[in-house]
Amino acid sequence: MKTVPGTFELPGQCDNVAWLQEKAGRQALTAAERDLLCRLYGEACAGQGTASEVMRLLTRSFSREPIPEYYRYANLHVYAWFLDQSPAEPVAGAVLALDATLAALEAVERRAAPRLTEADHTEERLKRLNALREQVGRLPVKIGSEANVAEIIKGRGDDGMALWQAFVLTRCSGFLASNDHHEHIFLRTVQACELAFYLIRYFTVRARLSIGRGDGQAPALMAQLVHYAELPNHIFHVLQTLTPDLFLTFRDATGEASAVQSLNYHLMELVMYGHDARKVEAYLRFEHLHELTVPPLRSVRPLRDTVLGAGDPDLTEALDAVERTLLTWRGRHYGFGRRYLPGVKGSGGTEGAGYLKRFVQKDNLVPEPITTAPELDMLGFAYR
Ligand code: HEM
Repeated sequence: MKTVPGTFELPGQCDNVAWLQEKAGRQALTAAERDLLCRLYGEACAGQGTASEVMRLLTRSFSREPIPEYYRYANLHVYAWFLDQSPAEPVAGAVLALDATLAALEAVERRAAPRLTEADHTEERLKRLNALREQVGRLPVKIGSEANVAEIIKGRGDDGMALWQAFVLTRCSGFLASNDHHEHIFLRTVQACELAFYLIRYFTVRARLSIGRGDGQAPALMAQLVHYAELPNHIFHVLQTLTPDLFLTFRDATGEASAVQSLNYHLMELVMYGHDARKVEAYLRFEHLHELTVPPLRSVRPLRDTVLGAGDPDLTEALDAVERTLLTWRGRHYGFGRRYLPGVKGSGGTEGAGYLKRFVQKDNLVPEPITTAPELDMLGFAYR
């Protein structure tokens, strides 16, 4: 590992393995190459040291383990690894991952800009990306402290280990399925949204616990939640520079990878709104989502319930703001589905935009019997 910013290299054979996946996209890999990557994954799991660790991150998507397609595609195991590096500071870890992901996207867009045309919307994309990075920089990180994300990033600017970890994160998670430049923004916005879903769940759970304990931190946590809930909307603003035509150029290469398989998303909705019986059919299609259909997850107390029980108008106002923001995101997401895939089935096997439309509104949920289930760890990043 080198510690001068920008001069890192992957160890051992890792660079070749990264290059193999990059040269024409993962879809172009031959059966023999896939077998090789699968074998390398097995060997890396049995090995020790940095080279094995990085090799494991680079090759897990080719494992024969039952990994949902979405996780193979989005490389969320690399994000889980990154967050595991600083378990005591999950928010700092997630915002650093978010910043590194957006920085990697910005770099790839800047590199491609000279060979692209106006139809590629690169200038507008970079403008929106820059605004998003500034918004992320202003996010508050710690309760009772003025520190924001930009200061945390600056504070780690000459920390060799932190830079190395950010390098590994972005280098091992950015592989496209296709050979099409515009897939970068799609993949990176998926990853950025996953971090946002996780952070929203984190603050939701912390706020709910704080209200229950009456430790006085709930107003600050709810205020943070209001800010973090806006992230998916800001991210989608950047994604809008990917037009339907540009999206359809690479969409087939992503195969059956659909964020309907996203455990982070469903857990975020669960702690926010409670169990949604209308989704059981979708959950039952994927084994890793089955746990959402039965207690204890099915009986988790939603934030709304706890906030309304507290009878504090300021908390209720903050909750209303969060719910409005998430409603906007779901409405925009439905808009993406309708505009980009008119009449087309979703890659997750749903009817497509119609599925998204059914879940825009949350005010028609049938309440479930609630248990507090204190033994549940709802604060970790979720991946399979
Ligand atoms: C061009 C942009 C996009 C389009 C056209 C689109 C379309 C869709 C469609 C049709 C579905 C229905 C499920 C299925 O695949 O069968 C879906 C589900 C979903 N998508 Fe997207 N999507 C887009 C971008 C994103 C991004 C960037 C994220 C971020 C992770 C995302 C997160 C989700 C989630 C969480 C679900 C499940 C929603 C639920 O169960 O309520 N989507 N999307």
